[in-house]
Amino acid sequence: MERTLVLVKPDAVEKGYTGAILARLEATGAKLVAAKMLQIPKALAEKHYEAHKAKPFFPSVVGFITSGPVVAAVFEGQDVVAKVRKAMGATNPANAEPGTIRKDFAESIERNAVHGSDSPDSAMVEVALYFKPEEIVSY
Ligand code: TYD
Ligand code: MG
Repeated sequence: MERTLVLVKPDAVEKGYTGAILARLEATGAKLVAAKMLQIPKALAEKHYEAHKAKPFFPSVVGFITSGPVVAAVFEGQDVVAKVRKAMGATNPANAEPGTIRKDFAESIERNAVHGSDSPDSAMVEVALYFKPEEIVSY
């Protein structure tokens, strides 16, 4: 069964959107199998955004994601990576479709409310960055 990593980012946690965002993801039919709140250490953020290391926005996005608490979650289901990405909407909320999480809750391309893994392969790597196997439940 496919899994994906979701982060409710510091902007959305701060504004009290955590429940609403997780509810939208549950409404896709995806099954919540792990969740916790944490403040991401810098080294973990750098690993998480490793693919973007050479991009001009890398230092800023690492600074933002470590700036306050996030809620990390794992969702499971058929095609869950694509389903979650669809519910999230485009990276830049200005381009996000109506009814998507980023359209309704994001402030800007950086403070964009939510992270979701972009492929089943990166999901496996990302889930393992945030959760030990025993923290993911089966039900
Ligand atoms: P990316 O993986 O391209 O987007 P997504 O989160 O939709 O998979 O980029 C990772 C994060 O980096 C993105 O959520 C916000 C930030 N970012 C910027 O701040 N500026 C940018 O120009 C881009 C492309 C991303
Ligand atoms: Mg991405």
